Amino acid sequence: MIKVAPSLLSCDFMHMHDEIKKIEDAGADILHLDVMDGHFVPNLTFGLPVIEKIRKSSDIPLDVHLMITNPDVYADRYCDLGIDYLSFHLETVFHSHRLIKQIKDKGVKAGVVLNPGTPVQSIEAVAGDMDFILLMSVNPGFGGQSFLPIVYDKLNWLMKLKEEKNLDFEIEIDGGITNANCKELTECGADILVAGSYVFSGEDYSQRIRSLKNV
Ligand code: DX5
Ligand code: ZN
Repeated sequence: MIKVAPSLLSCDFMHMHDEIKKIEDAGADILHLDVMDGHFVPNLTFGLPVIEKIRKSSDIPLDVHLMITNPDVYADRYCDLGIDYLSFHLETVFHSHRLIKQIKDKGVKAGVVLNPGTPVQSIEAVAGDMDFILLMSVNPGFGGQSFLPIVYDKLNWLMKLKEEKNLDFEIEIDGGITNANCKELTECGADILVAGSYVFSGEDYSQRIRSLKNV
């Protein structure tokens, strides 16, 4: 069954606590948290202190998506908050293999993120070490953008790699996900769908989440 990870970026920040509770009650599997630094992406969001509070007030698995230029400097501190998934952009690091190990040594699932313009083949050497890969289906930085179908070729390539090498990493897709593309993504092999504006713009979060799971 596909896992749905609403992105907090699209919630009502004035009522963040209530929004998280509503998302949990609506059947979200994971909470996706977008950390932006204003350097790697042209936007700023939240970081360690906010995620620390979220961890203390909720038991939902937390998936931290770092969109920052120096993830190696911050990775340990994010892991120490008790998060479940931590991903960094391949475009931001010299030593992706080392950083994957650093995150896994903390007992957190380690993921590599690829921008739409980054070839998926660039992760082949570390595919056996990472726990998940996050394919961006929009250029990172903002919620509410249109889905880029070029992600399908990457997804298909990853599914072949998994089969050929008998690997078991999860595949997460992030950006522009709605009820219009969730079925095809699921059929192509996606394991986790991140959805921000689609879920939070709904009157009924539970209905939105169910529609992404095709139930
Ligand atoms: C974009 C973020 C996404 C974003 C998705 O940089 O990584 O997680 O919140 O938002 P939607 O689903 O609205 O495209
Ligand atoms: Zn994200």
